[in-house]
Amino acid sequence: MKEVKDFIAREKLIPVVKLDDAADTLPLMEALKAGGIHIAEITFRTACGAEAIAIASNNCGDMLIGAGTIISAAQAEKAISAGAKFIVGPGYSQGVADICRKNGIMYLPGCVTPTEIMVAIENGIDIIKFFPAESFGGLNAIRAISAAFPELRFLPTGGISAANIKEYLSFNKVFACGGSWMVKDSLIKSRDFSTITRLSREAKELIGL
Ligand code: 3PG
Repeated sequence: MKEVKDFIAREKLIPVVKLDDAADTLPLMEALKAGGIHIAEITFRTACGAEAIAIASNNCGDMLIGAGTIISAAQAEKAISAGAKFIVGPGYSQGVADICRKNGIMYLPGCVTPTEIMVAIENGIDIIKFFPAESFGGLNAIRAISAAFPELRFLPTGGISAANIKEYLSFNKVFACGGSWMVKDSLIKSRDFSTITRLSREAKELIGL
């Protein structure tokens, strides 16, 4: 799990991917890599989420592939079987936390209130997804919350873009950011992989990587 944490900390940006067609998985991973991104959170928002995770995990050994939008223990099991190396959720689920702990897989649950964060901490979690970040007070809220939880680190996601990612990452409690602007639905649907590469490269340059 430490290797996964270190990998994410180095990458600093996790693209949140939604695929409607598993056949787009490899071209998309290639496009991200060409832009300097070696990590992807493939969400379970579509029927082919698990299949796409399996394709990416089996074919992209130089990338860290995780599962996103995991809201149940059954989904977590499916994602881990498909090869997901980390699990992200929009909220906290005890069932998902238990499956991840049993499998030694990093779980990044969505938490925005101190009470939700306390549940996560009690379950051994020290990094939470702060989601949807911009709607829940953005960096100001993260700064205020972090005063009460000095060991906690944050993965802000939701409303992160080229315009604000640097500001988020400038706060030392921000572990990495998640975002979908470089892998927007419209870009994937139109198979505009060159724009995905360009936006990925621009994002990495922006954050100094
Ligand atoms: C997520 O679930 O992590 C978000 O959909 C990503 O947020 P964004 O689309 O605002 O980047």
